[in-house]
Amino acid sequence: MKAPTLLVLLSSPLSLAFLVAPVPRTALIRRAAARLSVPRMDDTDTMPVPEAFLASRQTYIKDFDEYKTMYERSIRDPEGFWGEIAKQFHWEVPFTKVVDFNFKSTNGKIFSRWFEGGKTNICYNALDRHVKAGHGGQIAMYHESNEEGEELPSWTYAQMLAEVEKMGSWLLAQGVKPGDKVSIFMPMVPQLPIAMLACARIGAVHSVVFGGFSAEALANRLVDAQSTVVITADGVMRGTKPVKLFETVAAAAALCSSSMPIAKVLILQRLGPDKLKLELEKGRDVWWHEALSAADPSCAVEWMGAEDPLFVLYTSGSTGKPKGVVHTTGGYMVYAATTSKYIFDLKPEDTFFCTADCGWITGHTYVTYGPMLNRAKQLVFEGVPSYPDAGRLWRAVDKYEVTQIYTAPTAIRSLMKVGDTPVTSTSRKSLKLLGSVGEPINPEAWRWYHKVVGDGRCPIVDTWWQTETGGIMITPLPTKGFGEKPGCASLPFFGVQPVLLTSEGVELEGAAEGLLALKGPWPSAIRAVLGDYERFRNTYFPIDGYYMTGDGARRDEDGYIWITGRVDDVINTSGHRIGTAEVESAMVLHPKVAEAAVVGYPHPIKGEGIYVYVTVKQGVEQTEELLKELNLQCRKEIGAFATPDVVHWAPALPKTRSGKIMRRILRKIAAGQISQEDLGDTSTLAEPGVVDILIQSAPNNI
Ligand code: PRX
Repeated sequence: MKAPTLLVLLSSPLSLAFLVAPVPRTALIRRAAARLSVPRMDDTDTMPVPEAFLASRQTYIKDFDEYKTMYERSIRDPEGFWGEIAKQFHWEVPFTKVVDFNFKSTNGKIFSRWFEGGKTNICYNALDRHVKAGHGGQIAMYHESNEEGEELPSWTYAQMLAEVEKMGSWLLAQGVKPGDKVSIFMPMVPQLPIAMLACARIGAVHSVVFGGFSAEALANRLVDAQSTVVITADGVMRGTKPVKLFETVAAAAALCSSSMPIAKVLILQRLGPDKLKLELEKGRDVWWHEALSAADPSCAVEWMGAEDPLFVLYTSGSTGKPKGVVHTTGGYMVYAATTSKYIFDLKPEDTFFCTADCGWITGHTYVTYGPMLNRAKQLVFEGVPSYPDAGRLWRAVDKYEVTQIYTAPTAIRSLMKVGDTPVTSTSRKSLKLLGSVGEPINPEAWRWYHKVVGDGRCPIVDTWWQTETGGIMITPLPTKGFGEKPGCASLPFFGVQPVLLTSEGVELEGAAEGLLALKGPWPSAIRAVLGDYERFRNTYFPIDGYYMTGDGARRDEDGYIWITGRVDDVINTSGHRIGTAEVESAMVLHPKVAEAAVVGYPHPIKGEGIYVYVTVKQGVEQTEELLKELNLQCRKEIGAFATPDVVHWAPALPKTRSGKIMRRILRKIAAGQISQEDLGDTSTLAEPGVVDILIQSAPNNI
């Protein structure tokens, strides 16, 4: 039998190019255990929000007591609390009711509705409102190229508005109507938020697909959204690698051609013909610069009902194909703006730098919408943190005088690994606040971020939320008297009521550990799974009265919430959500594979790695060649970021007598927990001997 092979993912969107491969799995797990100490309940060395931060600015929220008062009011009087905030935006038609909801399926259909009767437009509030108030000349976005030293134009609010209007006119000229879905498959450049805002302006629903997805994955999303207009770019350089976006769109269009022909593809020229020549299809493919220079420069705003859909964003769940999460206009707008304002203490004079791609929810809420609704300046970076070296982010911070940086623990851990010098050789004196998102941040990484990156003078906001929640739900706040605990998402934002439940749906009181659920509605909650009400209800509202997050959490004596990770079959790798079912389906598409089971395991950089158990068909040899083919299969069906880290040739899989794979056991073996005590009860297995065989074939024992 061959030993499982380790493959370290080099092509993650965060491009961890300085990782070395291969590393023995035992070493990886040992290191993972050392670095990823799960936040402990006794790890409560609470740190105050640094004095230096408080002295440098007047925070929107004066102190912890003010947070408490505002929080209590937001729960007691949501109508008053959110109604007052919402009125600070432009409503073409005022709303008549702040909130209405039902979270109990025994009471009829699940719904939440905010600001009913109102008509507004999020693009108007993010752009026109500021330009009309005389701020058109303010920088909205700086654009940092992948190539350090290449100067690219920045965009003022007025310039962004002008481009958005032209694109809105072009979309209208293609026959796009309010409610139609437009797909966006672009690199992380300012034209990506511009495309999103243009859709919002004319009432079209954008569906942004992360540029790292494969043609197959894109095609599935195009068909599910019934989207026949696609906005893309020729390509972009990320590190040393070209990402050929148009090529993927063209391949996806070919895959959809029989069921749903793609009518128009608008292509931004980012690389140009010297670097990347495209084969355009006449009548379908048009260049952005040509189409927009011919478009009407003025494009009227479409006033949208508060509950009209704003966007669809696909995310992975524990079963089946990715779900199209639907967010609507009014509540999302108010919540995106309010969380950005208070959690990052975001002011118009700030330069905010969120390193997330707009292909994910973080880029939607904390690049395109939240900061722009607050009229902040932003830095948009199209490259990767490790190129040309690990000092890149910090030099960018100095160059643009970034005040708040918002990034993922994976990036922090990968940069931490390289040592302090790339950080300490930069000034970073402009930095005021640090943010973390997407996965649990281990206390060691938190402390490094705090001490080395922030020189001990910046608060850290460890923000917990999800694609479905639309905005940050649990977080520390950067205000006087707020105690920060390294590795802890802390306390709920305004209007959010987190509870811990047993699996029977009983609410736990005091210090406890359980399933994390949210009681009651919040403005930016998921409204629907596109085209599938049953799935929406069954996934998120299986227990009357609660939205189930799919995460587990612990609450300590201070009421602080520590996220412990997913409790379902979803892997969070490098802050990306991947359903184990998606990887399994990709694997079994290979003709030599009989069966596959996928689990997550602790990974020192990525948080969780993808561990695949593969059973091959009889007579098939488990060769390096086959391994390569399996990896390619994942890249083809999903994208490079879903490439397995470990493939374990499994002679058989542990199953119950009814044929269900016991993933609990597979997770333990993958994590190197192989004693009988670790494995727990195996008596319900149809063939208990399988466990021993799997342990024997794991590298630890070879
Ligand atoms: O498991 C939680 C984890 O990321 C999941 C949501 O993933 P996604 O919808 O892709 O959105 C990511 C960006 C908001 C959650 O269910 N997660 C997110 N933030 C944190 C986190 N886990 C621990 N701590 C966090 N701060």
